[in-house]
Amino acid sequence: MKHQQLLTKAKEILLNNFQEKGFTIPCKGLYPFQWNWDSGFIAIGFAHFDMEKAKKEIKTLIDSQWSNGFIPHIIFHNKSDTYFPGPNFHRSDLSKLSNTNVPTTGMTQPHVLGIALERMYEIAENKEAMIRFIKENIDAIYNFSLYFYNHRDPLDEGLAYIYHNWESGTDNSPIWDDIWDTMDSPSLEFKRKDTGHVDASQRPSKREYDHYLHIIEIAKKHNYDDAKIAEFSPFLVQDPLFNSVLISSNKALIRLYELIGGYEEKVEKLKSLTQKSIRNFNSKLFDEKLGAYCHYDLRKGKLLRYVSSSSFSPLHAEIPTKERAEKLIYTMMKKFGNEHQYLCASFDPTHERFNPKKYWRGPVWINLNWLLYHGLKKYDYTHIAERIKKESIEIIEKNGFYEYFDARKEISEKQAAGYGGNNFSWSAALLIDLLNE
Ligand code: DGY
Repeated sequence: MKHQQLLTKAKEILLNNFQEKGFTIPCKGLYPFQWNWDSGFIAIGFAHFDMEKAKKEIKTLIDSQWSNGFIPHIIFHNKSDTYFPGPNFHRSDLSKLSNTNVPTTGMTQPHVLGIALERMYEIAENKEAMIRFIKENIDAIYNFSLYFYNHRDPLDEGLAYIYHNWESGTDNSPIWDDIWDTMDSPSLEFKRKDTGHVDASQRPSKREYDHYLHIIEIAKKHNYDDAKIAEFSPFLVQDPLFNSVLISSNKALIRLYELIGGYEEKVEKLKSLTQKSIRNFNSKLFDEKLGAYCHYDLRKGKLLRYVSSSSFSPLHAEIPTKERAEKLIYTMMKKFGNEHQYLCASFDPTHERFNPKKYWRGPVWINLNWLLYHGLKKYDYTHIAERIKKESIEIIEKNGFYEYFDARKEISEKQAAGYGGNNFSWSAALLIDLLNE
């Protein structure tokens, strides 16, 4: 497909997935509601051809904010029986802080809103109108950043914890296997919907879902109280992707506040929090032996020593020094970057837990590639950045706008190698951004 045709198709996907209430579903059937970090990436795509929809996307997400600044992972604006677990399972109403206008989940997702807002400003032709939009909405995004420092950082390190794998965005990463091994979740009875849309070999197992639901039950038992969750959740992790995105969003907010002027106090606050985050990120989450950033299991007090695409996301937030970045990129190229593989697999292809077809256990994801592409450019690794961009476009061209893709080039040559949902919004949105960049 020519790039022009790809762009036309990508726009068509976004427009088809856009809903009357002013938000965009990730894809039909499998994900029929508004998802938090999906919306951030989707807004970037819309910004290139329909800024009003991009703004709506951000606005509907922000409108779901809780009174403590928290912005949830799924917003159930509409009814749908194609997804499990829905609003009746999550029960956000259990929290007295929850949004009373719309049911949501009681967990969140990587905070890409600051990144998205800044990218929208860069793309906008009418800068004045965009500045008005920023002025109206930036404080809500700032409050979301602050929520993590005030309520998700019990050790005061500037490193937010996540209490559920669905908060990481990398839902069934093999990294979590170590945590599942320590859990004795009951075997629950429930009816999955995802495996009715997508081949079960590409989705998490029943046992994994037992754990996912069990953690939510614990959070519900405590009415989604953060302090209680920090005390009782069996899953409590400082995730390098989650914290990198938070830091990147903070930095974007600092630049935007400086641009609009008159917010010195907030700028100072963000600067000091972000500095603390970066300092502790570097001292706590880098594993010298692996040459990569890792996840830290707060419950067990140890690093989970695995390399995943999340390990390289600190490049986007300019967390590593130049020297450390060199080491990190060396690890990336050695494990993930040989010529038989598309960059960047979601999990270490040399590891026995790597699975090239299953959700976050190996396949390539366009949103991670987008973050890595920009991260590599910030450190002047232009050649590798360009390779990621080229391969992201190629993988979509060959397979279609899937949710995730096989990293093995030979498979893409022989057969369809796009997996999960099709006509997937963020694959379309970020392709638009890459092609217009
Ligand atoms: C799912 O249901 O798999 C979603 O990705 C959770 O966010």
